Amino acid sequence: MRPWTVAIDGPAGAGKSTVARLLARRMGYLYIDSGAMYRAVALKAIQSGIDPAEADAVAALARGARIAFRPDPDSEDDEAPQCVLLDGEDVSAEVRRPEVAQLASVVSAIPGVRSALVAQQQAMGAQGGVVMEGRDIGTVVFPNAELKVYLTASPEERAVRRLKELEARGIVGDASLEQVRAEQDERDARDATRPVSPLVAASDAVQLESDGLTPAEVVDDILALVDARRREA
Ligand code: DC
Repeated sequence: MRPWTVAIDGPAGAGKSTVARLLARRMGYLYIDSGAMYRAVALKAIQSGIDPAEADAVAALARGARIAFRPDPDSEDDEAPQCVLLDGEDVSAEVRRPEVAQLASVVSAIPGVRSALVAQQQAMGAQGGVVMEGRDIGTVVFPNAELKVYLTASPEERAVRRLKELEARGIVGDASLEQVRAEQDERDARDATRPVSPLVAASDAVQLESDGLTPAEVVDDILALVDARRREA
């Protein structure tokens, strides 16, 4: 049987990354964090001193960026077992910075950036056997994915998780919950209202709410779905 392609979409802080990573491990599939690719383009724009309003210049950067993922054999952090490489350089820590996240949301609204990264994502998943997480994986990147999950959580719970994640990574020691929530709302609004590939659940996605559930419990629910569908097939 051909290995499946699994799409996990949803807003920031819904728990997509942890769930997608665990799911990939349990299924023996490759995990791909498409958000890290938008973050890498944002970082490249900062490094190159390119104004994010210059859509054509940023799109050209995206087309020229060599973005790759590599397992991190030294990682003791179960949450970050992969390195993100930008033009051969490990930028895993830089792409997690809040200002890079904000700019990633801006550059991801540029059509030329999206088409460049979507093409790379489709190539990475061409053989199946991947769990890819993002915003448009089930709608645009892999509209024929065997399984699409749209993972959400309440805005309050998502902001609390984001703050914990930032603290755990030692990125911002003094960010308040209000600040994180305000940035999250701003990013959600931009991601949901952009004209190209706005954040929206695919019509055939299974919607899951992760409030009050551990990532492992969400993964168990998804694996039960996989089993049920395979039995039907
Ligand atoms: O998932 P994340 O926070 O790492 O994503 C960073 C930004 O990239 C986010 O603002 C939305 C955007 N993004 C996107 O537009 N499409 C994707 N498939 C993944 C992320």
